[in-house]
Amino acid sequence: MLRVLVMVSGGGTNLQAIIDGVHSGDITNTELVGVISNNYDVYALERAANAGIEGCVVSPKDYTTREEFNKGLLAKVNSFKPDLIVLAGFLVVIPETMIDEYENRIINIHPSLIPSFCGTGYYGLKVHEAALDRGVKLTGATVHYVDKGTDTGPIIMQKAVEVQEGDTPKILQQRVMEEAEWKILPAAINKIANSL
Ligand code: GAR
Repeated sequence: MLRVLVMVSGGGTNLQAIIDGVHSGDITNTELVGVISNNYDVYALERAANAGIEGCVVSPKDYTTREEFNKGLLAKVNSFKPDLIVLAGFLVVIPETMIDEYENRIINIHPSLIPSFCGTGYYGLKVHEAALDRGVKLTGATVHYVDKGTDTGPIIMQKAVEVQEGDTPKILQQRVMEEAEWKILPAAINKIANSL
Protein backbone atom coordinates (compact mmCIF):
# COMPACT_ATOMS: atom_id res chain seq x y z
CA MET A 1 0.00 0.00 0.00
CA LEU A 2 1.29 3.42 -0.99
CA ARG A 3 1.31 5.73 2.05
CA VAL A 4 0.01 9.07 0.76
CA LEU A 5 0.27 12.38 2.61
CA VAL A 6 -1.82 15.25 1.21
CA MET A 7 -0.84 18.88 1.74
CA VAL A 8 -3.46 21.63 1.45
CA SER A 9 -4.02 25.34 2.01
CA GLY A 10 -7.75 25.90 1.52
CA GLY A 11 -11.05 24.37 0.57
CA GLY A 12 -9.68 20.97 -0.29
CA THR A 13 -11.86 19.96 -3.23
CA ASN A 14 -8.89 18.08 -4.71
CA LEU A 15 -8.35 16.36 -1.35
CA GLN A 16 -12.04 15.37 -1.49
CA ALA A 17 -11.58 13.94 -4.98
CA ILE A 18 -8.71 11.80 -3.65
CA ILE A 19 -10.72 10.64 -0.62
CA ASP A 20 -13.66 9.78 -2.89
CA GLY A 21 -11.32 7.96 -5.27
CA VAL A 22 -9.99 5.75 -2.49
CA HIS A 23 -13.51 5.05 -1.20
CA SER A 24 -14.93 4.25 -4.64
CA GLY A 25 -12.01 2.02 -5.60
CA ASP A 26 -10.88 4.28 -8.45
CA ILE A 27 -7.63 4.63 -6.49
CA THR A 28 -6.29 1.31 -5.27
CA ASN A 29 -3.26 0.16 -3.30
CA THR A 30 -3.30 3.50 -1.44
CA GLU A 31 -3.63 4.54 2.18
CA LEU A 32 -4.28 8.21 3.03
CA VAL A 33 -2.09 8.59 6.11
CA GLY A 34 -2.48 12.29 6.82
CA VAL A 35 -3.30 15.83 5.75
CA ILE A 36 -1.10 18.84 6.51
CA SER A 37 -2.40 22.40 6.14
CA ASN A 38 -0.39 25.60 6.45
CA ASN A 39 -3.56 27.47 7.41
CA TYR A 40 -5.86 27.06 10.41
CA ASP A 41 -9.61 26.82 9.98
CA VAL A 42 -9.65 25.61 6.39
CA TYR A 43 -12.42 23.38 5.14
CA ALA A 44 -9.88 20.83 3.90
CA LEU A 45 -9.19 19.87 7.55
CA GLU A 46 -12.89 19.20 8.07
CA ARG A 47 -12.88 16.99 4.98
CA ALA A 48 -9.94 15.04 6.46
CA ALA A 49 -11.70 14.68 9.83
CA ASN A 50 -14.93 13.53 8.17
CA ALA A 51 -12.96 10.84 6.37
CA GLY A 52 -11.17 9.75 9.55
CA ILE A 53 -7.77 10.97 8.31
CA GLU A 54 -5.35 12.62 10.72
CA GLY A 55 -5.11 16.34 9.96
CA CYS A 56 -2.72 18.94 11.34
CA VAL A 57 -1.55 22.50 10.83
CA VAL A 58 2.03 23.68 10.35
CA SER A 59 1.71 27.46 10.01
CA PRO A 60 4.53 29.92 9.28
CA LYS A 61 2.81 32.19 11.82
CA ASP A 62 3.90 29.83 14.60
CA TYR A 63 7.61 30.17 13.74
CA THR A 64 9.96 33.14 14.02
CA THR A 65 11.91 32.43 10.82
CA ARG A 66 11.25 30.72 7.51
CA GLU A 67 14.08 28.32 8.28
CA GLU A 68 12.42 27.22 11.52
CA PHE A 69 9.10 26.79 9.70
CA ASN A 70 10.80 24.69 7.00
CA LYS A 71 12.35 22.46 9.68
CA GLY A 72 9.02 22.10 11.47
CA LEU A 73 7.27 21.27 8.21
CA LEU A 74 9.81 18.60 7.25
CA ALA A 75 9.66 17.05 10.74
CA LYS A 76 5.87 16.84 10.52
CA VAL A 77 6.01 15.38 7.02
CA ASN A 78 8.54 12.76 8.14
CA SER A 79 6.34 11.81 11.09
CA PHE A 80 3.78 10.39 8.63
CA LYS A 81 6.42 8.23 6.86
CA PRO A 82 4.86 8.92 3.45
CA ASP A 83 5.77 7.12 0.23
CA LEU A 84 4.14 9.90 -1.80
CA ILE A 85 3.37 13.54 -0.96
CA VAL A 86 0.51 15.14 -2.89
CA LEU A 87 0.34 18.93 -3.07
CA ALA A 88 -3.40 19.49 -3.52
CA GLY A 89 -3.68 23.28 -3.57
CA PHE A 90 -0.74 23.70 -1.17
CA LEU A 91 0.36 27.27 -1.80
CA VAL A 92 3.66 27.27 0.11
CA VAL A 93 7.09 26.97 -1.52
CA ILE A 94 8.41 23.50 -0.68
CA PRO A 95 11.76 23.68 1.16
CA GLU A 96 14.72 22.39 -0.89
CA THR A 97 15.67 20.00 1.93
CA MET A 98 12.26 18.34 1.56
CA ILE A 99 12.64 18.08 -2.23
CA ASP A 100 16.05 16.41 -1.73
CA GLU A 101 14.66 13.98 0.83
CA TYR A 102 11.57 13.12 -1.24
CA GLU A 103 13.01 13.22 -4.76
CA ASN A 104 10.42 11.97 -7.30
CA ARG A 105 7.98 11.37 -4.44
CA ILE A 106 6.20 14.77 -4.43
CA ILE A 107 3.49 15.57 -6.99
CA ASN A 108 1.51 18.76 -7.55
CA ILE A 109 -1.72 19.70 -9.32
CA HIS A 110 -1.58 22.96 -11.28
CA PRO A 111 -4.68 24.52 -12.88
CA SER A 112 -3.31 25.12 -16.40
CA LEU A 113 -1.69 23.22 -19.23
CA ILE A 114 1.98 23.62 -18.25
CA PRO A 115 4.08 25.35 -19.64
CA SER A 116 1.30 27.96 -20.02
CA PHE A 117 0.35 30.13 -17.05
CA CYS A 118 2.68 28.58 -14.52
CA GLY A 119 5.68 29.55 -12.42
CA THR A 120 6.06 32.19 -9.73
CA GLY A 121 2.90 34.19 -9.12
CA TYR A 122 0.59 31.80 -10.97
CA TYR A 123 -1.66 30.09 -8.46
CA GLY A 124 -5.37 29.69 -7.81
CA LEU A 125 -7.62 32.23 -9.54
CA LYS A 126 -4.64 34.20 -10.91
CA VAL A 127 -4.00 31.35 -13.36
CA HIS A 128 -7.52 31.60 -14.77
CA GLU A 129 -7.42 35.41 -14.88
CA ALA A 130 -4.23 35.17 -16.96
CA ALA A 131 -5.73 32.56 -19.29
CA LEU A 132 -8.82 34.74 -19.91
CA ASP A 133 -6.67 37.88 -20.37
CA ARG A 134 -4.62 36.05 -23.02
CA GLY A 135 -7.76 34.85 -24.73
CA VAL A 136 -6.81 31.17 -24.94
CA LYS A 137 -9.59 28.87 -26.13
CA LEU A 138 -8.21 25.81 -24.36
CA THR A 139 -6.84 25.54 -20.86
CA GLY A 140 -6.77 22.63 -18.41
CA ALA A 141 -4.78 21.11 -15.59
CA THR A 142 -1.47 19.33 -15.09
CA VAL A 143 -0.15 16.85 -12.53
CA HIS A 144 3.63 16.91 -12.32
CA TYR A 145 6.51 15.84 -10.12
CA VAL A 146 7.93 18.63 -7.95
CA ASP A 147 11.54 19.63 -8.49
CA LYS A 148 13.43 22.71 -7.31
CA GLY A 149 11.86 25.02 -9.89
CA THR A 150 8.31 26.35 -9.79
CA ASP A 151 6.05 24.06 -11.86
CA THR A 152 9.07 22.76 -13.82
CA GLY A 153 9.11 19.08 -12.85
CA PRO A 154 8.31 16.16 -15.19
CA ILE A 155 4.66 16.04 -16.30
CA ILE A 156 2.63 12.99 -15.29
CA MET A 157 -0.83 13.78 -16.70
CA GLN A 158 -2.68 16.66 -18.37
CA LYS A 159 -6.27 17.26 -19.41
CA ALA A 160 -7.58 20.05 -21.62
CA VAL A 161 -10.73 22.06 -20.88
CA GLU A 162 -12.50 24.46 -23.26
CA VAL A 163 -12.83 28.12 -22.39
CA GLN A 164 -16.38 29.32 -23.09
CA GLU A 165 -17.85 32.66 -24.09
CA GLY A 166 -18.68 34.71 -21.00
CA ASP A 167 -16.37 32.79 -18.64
CA THR A 168 -15.24 34.62 -15.51
CA PRO A 169 -12.13 33.43 -13.64
CA LYS A 170 -14.37 31.72 -11.08
CA ILE A 171 -16.55 29.98 -13.65
CA LEU A 172 -13.45 28.79 -15.53
CA GLN A 173 -11.78 27.65 -12.29
CA GLN A 174 -14.82 25.54 -11.44
CA ARG A 175 -14.92 23.94 -14.90
CA VAL A 176 -11.18 23.18 -14.83
CA MET A 177 -11.62 21.55 -11.43
CA GLU A 178 -14.64 19.47 -12.41
CA GLU A 179 -13.45 18.40 -15.86
CA ALA A 180 -9.73 18.08 -15.23
CA GLU A 181 -8.27 18.41 -11.72
CA TRP A 182 -10.64 16.09 -9.86
CA LYS A 183 -10.03 13.45 -12.54
CA ILE A 184 -6.31 13.56 -13.25
CA LEU A 185 -5.09 13.95 -9.67
CA PRO A 186 -6.78 10.73 -8.45
CA ALA A 187 -5.75 9.01 -11.71
CA ALA A 188 -2.11 10.03 -11.25
CA ILE A 189 -2.06 8.72 -7.68
CA ASN A 190 -3.61 5.44 -8.79
CA LYS A 191 -1.04 5.15 -11.58
CA ILE A 192 1.86 5.69 -9.17
CA ALA A 193 0.36 3.38 -6.54
CA ASN A 194 0.10 0.57 -9.06
CA SER A 195 3.44 0.98 -10.78
CA LEU A 196 5.64 0.15 -7.80
C1 GAR B 1 -6.71 24.12 -7.24
O1 GAR B 1 -7.32 24.72 -8.34
C2 GAR B 1 -5.25 23.83 -7.53
O2 GAR B 1 -5.03 23.43 -8.85
C3 GAR B 1 -4.62 25.16 -7.24
O3 GAR B 1 -5.26 25.60 -6.07
C4 GAR B 1 -6.62 25.12 -6.07
C5 GAR B 1 -6.91 24.46 -4.73
O4 GAR B 1 -8.26 24.11 -4.63
N1 GAR B 1 -3.20 25.04 -7.08
C6 GAR B 1 -2.34 25.93 -7.55
O5 GAR B 1 -2.66 26.97 -8.09
C7 GAR B 1 -0.87 25.56 -7.36
N2 GAR B 1 -0.01 26.43 -8.11
P1 GAR B 1 -8.77 23.04 -3.57
O6 GAR B 1 -8.25 23.46 -2.18
O7 GAR B 1 -10.27 23.13 -3.64
O8 GAR B 1 -8.26 21.69 -3.98
